[in-house]
Amino acid sequence: MSRRPLLVGNWKMHTTVVEACQLAAAIRQGCADLPEERDIMLAPPATVLSEVSHIVHGSGIILAGQNVCWGPQGAFTGEISAVMIQGAGGNAALVGHSERRQIFHEDDAMVNRRLRGGLDQGLLMILCVGETLEEREGGQTLSVLEEQLRAGLSGVSIAQCDRLAIAYEPVWAIGTGLTASGEQAQEVHSFLRDQVTLLYEKNVADQMRILYGGSVKPDNIDQLMAQPDIDGALVGGAALDAASFIRIMQFKA
Ligand code: PGA
Repeated sequence: MSRRPLLVGNWKMHTTVVEACQLAAAIRQGCADLPEERDIMLAPPATVLSEVSHIVHGSGIILAGQNVCWGPQGAFTGEISAVMIQGAGGNAALVGHSERRQIFHEDDAMVNRRLRGGLDQGLLMILCVGETLEEREGGQTLSVLEEQLRAGLSGVSIAQCDRLAIAYEPVWAIGTGLTASGEQAQEVHSFLRDQVTLLYEKNVADQMRILYGGSVKPDNIDQLMAQPDIDGALVGGAALDAASFIRIMQFKA
């Protein structure tokens, strides 16, 4: 089963309009000579989504919100909706990023609500899951991931799974410079794929893209992408530097 690689740049709370436009233009240029078909997605801050969408228009780059609320509009101060993302030129969103879970205390039920809302409104969604260092050291990695996946996907129909990807992001590897080794990540990715089979069916699991995130850099992307169950990367820090992100997009597996 060959899954189309997906490389995502998550800009987090970085970039003014001017900085975002420069970065997007450089990445667009870097897409021109990608070695083979692969999907590139950028998740800039909501404040620059519209400007970035003009810059990447026609390039095939997919634009995503870094989070999404469940309703189309309403009294939800500080939130953005799928309709707003679409109106600004995006068609995707992340949910359940560990920074949302850890810093802003979003639990599985809220992540699930966001995920279902985004899917119902037509977005391509990325559900992030990952264990903390304490959970890993306590031998709980797989049980934590199983629960995040089960609760996160609750109520998501089999038909919606073709607009869904999963990102495995061990919390201890995010922004720390520590990366899971290719083998460590592969073990978890293969476990997650088995869980998708249990929750849906093998066909769905075979087609589901499972991305790795956590200190992905130009010097580790190739060995990560060489693993059979790693279908892409969710990149934070290295996505803010055009040359680094372009090298990541050009991974050689
Ligand atoms: P990092 O972030 O690449 O800076 O570790 C990854 C992420 O949080 O998506």
